[in-house]
Amino acid sequence: MSRALLQHLELLRNLGVKELYRGSSSQADLLQSLSQRYSSCQNCPLGATRKNFVYGEGNPNARAMLIGEAPGAEEDRTGHPFVGEAGKLLDKMLAAIDLSRQDIYICNILKCRPPNNRDPESAEREACLPYLLEQIDIIQPQLILMLGRVAAQTLLESRLTLEKLRQSVHSFQGIPSYVTYHPAALLRNPHWKRPAWSDLQKFRDHYLSL
Ligand code: URA
Repeated sequence: MSRALLQHLELLRNLGVKELYRGSSSQADLLQSLSQRYSSCQNCPLGATRKNFVYGEGNPNARAMLIGEAPGAEEDRTGHPFVGEAGKLLDKMLAAIDLSRQDIYICNILKCRPPNNRDPESAEREACLPYLLEQIDIIQPQLILMLGRVAAQTLLESRLTLEKLRQSVHSFQGIPSYVTYHPAALLRNPHWKRPAWSDLQKFRDHYLSL
């Protein structure tokens, strides 16, 4: 058993997970049952203020995984990731590179909404990260797109700016990973759409080469 897998299992045990569903169930069933199992999570204070635990959704066999920051108001209300205004822009960004939600799996660093959409605190990120690592372990994407500063800085354990981070292809757990602007940032700053398009084209070229 690899060291990474052992560490991951230990994290799950610390979270109170006593059994793992693996083996006969499909990835879709597995993700579905884990989403239900974790939906009452109280591992950080956001458990007390959220309406819904937003686990993630999309193609359980996706070759590419998109990772955002945290649910906003609309995601908290519905339980689905990226369904508000930023989500609508994300759908257009995906369509521009001939992808749709059915092709990818999408989730966030945090599964619960921080009050007033403030930045996730480091204790919240740490508490939530095992869920994301487990999703990656199940889906086994060949490519990751990190949406925004919080996702990129958290996963890459970096304090570099988004501007710097989007200039390289990174490796997260051995998976080639691209960084681009969060769609909510693009709504606030439309002049970033041009560099975001350049990031998306690189991501698409890599995706097509898989
Ligand atoms: N912003 C995010 O980072 N994630 C969502 O699911 C919605 C908005």
